[in-house]
Amino acid sequence: MKEQISNIRTAAEAELAQVSAPDALEALRVKYLGKKGELTAVLKGMGGLSAEERPVVGALANEVREFLEEHIETRRSALESEILTAKIANEKIDVTMPGKRGSLGRIHPLNAVLAQLEDIFIGMGFSISEGPEVEFDYYNFEALNIPKDHPARDTQDTFYVSDNIVLRTQTSPVQIRVMEQEAPPIRIIAPGRVYRSDAVDATHSPVFHQIEGLVIDKGVTMADLKGTLEIFVRELYGEKTKLRFRPHHFPFTEPSAEVDISCFSCGGSGCRICKNEGWIEILGAGMVHPEVLRRCNIDPEVYSGFAFGIGLERVAMFKYDIDDMRLFYENDVRFLMQF
Ligand code: PHE
Repeated sequence: MKEQISNIRTAAEAELAQVSAPDALEALRVKYLGKKGELTAVLKGMGGLSAEERPVVGALANEVREFLEEHIETRRSALESEILTAKIANEKIDVTMPGKRGSLGRIHPLNAVLAQLEDIFIGMGFSISEGPEVEFDYYNFEALNIPKDHPARDTQDTFYVSDNIVLRTQTSPVQIRVMEQEAPPIRIIAPGRVYRSDAVDATHSPVFHQIEGLVIDKGVTMADLKGTLEIFVRELYGEKTKLRFRPHHFPFTEPSAEVDISCFSCGGSGCRICKNEGWIEILGAGMVHPEVLRRCNIDPEVYSGFAFGIGLERVAMFKYDIDDMRLFYENDVRFLMQF
């Protein structure tokens, strides 16, 4: 039995010298020292020994067990530090290597113009309101004096979610929502996305943006509308910019006007940008129709007001001399990097 024990020791020692991975080391430990291990088996067989032999063999077996445990442990820590050293060598960082340059985005030209526009109106005491893009027919048409059979619906055909729900064709429904919620004096602008079933070309898109304006108070006149818009266009396009009102018709304003600015490029003499007209149309406006006020429980005998609707794309196209609206939506960085 003593011989058996020394053989185990010799064999284990030889195997230990070969082990090069933690898994193999653990397998080796189990093979000799585990519950069903070779040395354990020898110890279990000690019952058959004589009383004199037993302590001698026991002492030898224990000595070998301790020897193996110790060497396995030493080997384990040696292996672990080898692995760690290799890992550190692998993950070494070369601080002298050139860095990666992160690319910074830009503010989209439509957002840049919108921010500027908001600043101008906030400076005049307006606040900002919002309304839903999926809107009730009532707010988008009906409450704005556009009943079901009104011809104005033809020019603002849109996407119908149901008979009574549409994608809004204009930001004007926000006028109604604000007048229903707030008592005058009211002074808001309402920017947002609008939808029409238009085919895409250089000046049309089924999705575009408007900024609505609404002022309601006692004694508001068309002179206030003109003064407000004048300040706005001068801030946006320069001090020399002139305004021109052309009579027009909107069902929810009376009187109504389309508003032109003198061409900021040629000053009115005619050029490529204004198509030789000297003037550029930028918005629709008018005095809020008494019927619209009445519907929102505002007494037209006491209050009056004006409203306007600006096309954000048009304003941005003129400001940056962009000749194709599609460029705004294509997300081509070569376009966007120019602003
Ligand atoms: N909502 C109108 C349009 O989309 C513009 C407008 C707004 C006109 C407010 C008058 C007053 O054409």
